[in-house]
Amino acid sequence: MLHPNIELRKINDEIGYGVFATKPIPLGTITWALDPLDQILDCHAAEDPEDQYNGDLTRYTWVTANGQRILCWDFGRFMNHSCDANSYGPGGYPFEIAVRDIAADEELTCDYATLNLEKPLVCQCGSPRCRGVINPKDLKDIAPTCDILIRTACTRIHEVTQPLWHWVVNQNKEIDHILHHPDSIPSVMKHWWLPAQPTITHNRIGS
Ligand SMILES: C[S@@+](CC[C@H](N)C(=O)[O-])C[C@H]1O[C@@H](n2cnc3c(N)ncnc32)[C@H](O)[C@@H]1O
Ligand SMILES: [Zn+2]
Repeated sequence: MLHPNIELRKINDEIGYGVFATKPIPLGTITWALDPLDQILDCHAAEDPEDQYNGDLTRYTWVTANGQRILCWDFGRFMNHSCDANSYGPGGYPFEIAVRDIAADEELTCDYATLNLEKPLVCQCGSPRCRGVINPKDLKDIAPTCDILIRTACTRIHEVTQPLWHWVVNQNKEIDHILHHPDSIPSVMKHWWLPAQPTITHNRIGS
């Protein structure tokens, strides 16, 4: 579920829509949290080229470290990528936090490299820090910076209004302990999806 002070706006024909703050959202605010209406789909859900939903699933789902596809039921599925994103998720937790103050009318953005992007994406984020093409493997390069931003933002988590707090606590009972020890917040590298290795079947010689 997205933060309530967000609305959907058209950006242009190429990028499509994006989500924008209607009021300032301070550093440390939870901007998105997994909620029970979000669909958790099997990782193979978008593999059938004959499936009429294939394109939508590839475009609108993101992949967790377990290889599950998350399809947000609300405007969360319209969050665009920025190479200088204002929202990131701590490793292993299904929520995102504002890593700087987000002004009214500013677009809420995340970094697709933290969401197991499947194919490289030519980026139009317009940031001076734009990487040009977003690659799934960018995660290891951006992780140290993301981790500092996230850990700093988490130190503010109890100082700002948190409309999404109950969704975070409901799904992560130990979260409060972790947030009181920011250095123990897992790295974004924990989002990395390591697909299970294929099982090697040994054919018997001569069979
Ligand atoms: C989850 S959707 C986001 C919503 C999308 N803008 C829309 O209106 O359908 C992901 C798609 O948005 C576009 N997109 C998101 N961030 C982008 C960026 N920084 N540069 C170019 N396209 C982007 C790409 O087409 C991407 O596959
Ligand atoms: Zn970019």
